[in-house]
Amino acid sequence: MKTPSVLFPGLSRRPFTPRGLLFGLVMLAGVASSPARADDTQKGITSKVAMCIGCHSIPGYQASFPEVHKVPMISGQNAKYIAAALTAYRQGDRKHPTMKGVAASLTDQDIQEIAAYYEAHGKDLPGAGGRGGAPTPQVQALLTKGNCIACHGEGLNKPIDASYPKLAGQHADYLYVALKAYQVSGKGPIGRNNAIMSAQVKSFTQAELKLLAEYMASLPGDLKTVPQGRFR
Ligand code: HEC
Ligand code: HEC
Repeated sequence: MKTPSVLFPGLSRRPFTPRGLLFGLVMLAGVASSPARADDTQKGITSKVAMCIGCHSIPGYQASFPEVHKVPMISGQNAKYIAAALTAYRQGDRKHPTMKGVAASLTDQDIQEIAAYYEAHGKDLPGAGGRGGAPTPQVQALLTKGNCIACHGEGLNKPIDASYPKLAGQHADYLYVALKAYQVSGKGPIGRNNAIMSAQVKSFTQAELKLLAEYMASLPGDLKTVPQGRFR
C-alpha cells in the first residue's frame, strides 16, 4: 500500500504547517516555477487526484488498517458530501488515520476541485450496485426505525441534501465499518463525529447495522470504482 506521505509533496499547498516543514520547503522550491492558476485545468486536477488513484481506483482494493474492508467508491458521489467528508478528516472529526493524513495535505481549493471531479467521474459508466429488491420485513423495520430514506432518499441513492451521501451500491463491508464508526464518535482510530448519524446509529445493534449495510450494498446506484486506465 502506498503511504500518503510519499505522495504529499505534489499536493501540499500549505507551506509552513507544523506537520511538515520539509513539505513546505518542497513547495517553496516549486512556487517560482509553478504555472498560473488559470492554467490549472485538466493537468492540474490529474496531479491532484494522482494520490487517490492507488486506493480509490482499484476495483475491490482492500484497506487493511485499522480494519479490513474495501476502500469506498467515491466516483459518482455528491461533490458536497465528498468535500464535507474530506474536511471532516482534515479537522479530525473523522479519525481514520490514512484519510486524515491525505486530507491534511489538501487546501480548501483542492478539496472543491477534487470533489467536483469525482462527482462527474465515470458518468458514462454503469454504477456498481446490484439489482436490489424490496427489503425483507426485518430490514424494512430497521429502515423505518432509522428513517434512513427520509435523508438518504429514494433507493438510498437520492439524498435530500447534496451534503448527504449516496449509499446504494457502496461496498457492504465499508458501510458496516462506517456505521460502527458513528457509534464510537469521539474515539480513534475509526471514530466519526457527526451529530446526525451518531444519533441514528445509537439504537442499533452491530448485527442490525450489518443487515442494513448488506441491503444498501445490494441496491442499484450511481457509485462506482473507475479503474486507473480511464484516467490517462
Ligand atoms: C492509502 C489508501 C487511500 C488513499 C491514498 C486515499 N484514500 Fe480516501 N479512503 C481510503 C479509505 C480506507 C477510506 C475509508 C475511511 C473511513 O473508514 O472513514 C477512504 C475514505 C475516503 C472518503 C470518504 C468516503 C465516504 O463515502 O465517506 C473520501 C471522500 C476519500 N476517501 C477521498 C479521497 C481522495 C480525494 C484521495 C486523494 C486526494 C484519497 N481519498 C486518497 C483510502 C485511501
Ligand atoms: C437526518 C438525516 C439522516 C438520517 C435519518 C440518516 N442519515 Fe445517514 N447520513 C446523514 C448524513 C448527514 C451523513 C454524513 C455524515 C458525515 O459527514 O460523516 C450520513 C452518513 C451515512 C453513512 C456513511 C456513508 C459513507 O459513505 O461513509 C451511512 C452508511 C449512513 N449514513 C447510513 C444511514 C442509515 C442506514 C440510516 C438509517 C438507519 C441513516 N443513515 C439515517 C444523514 C442521515
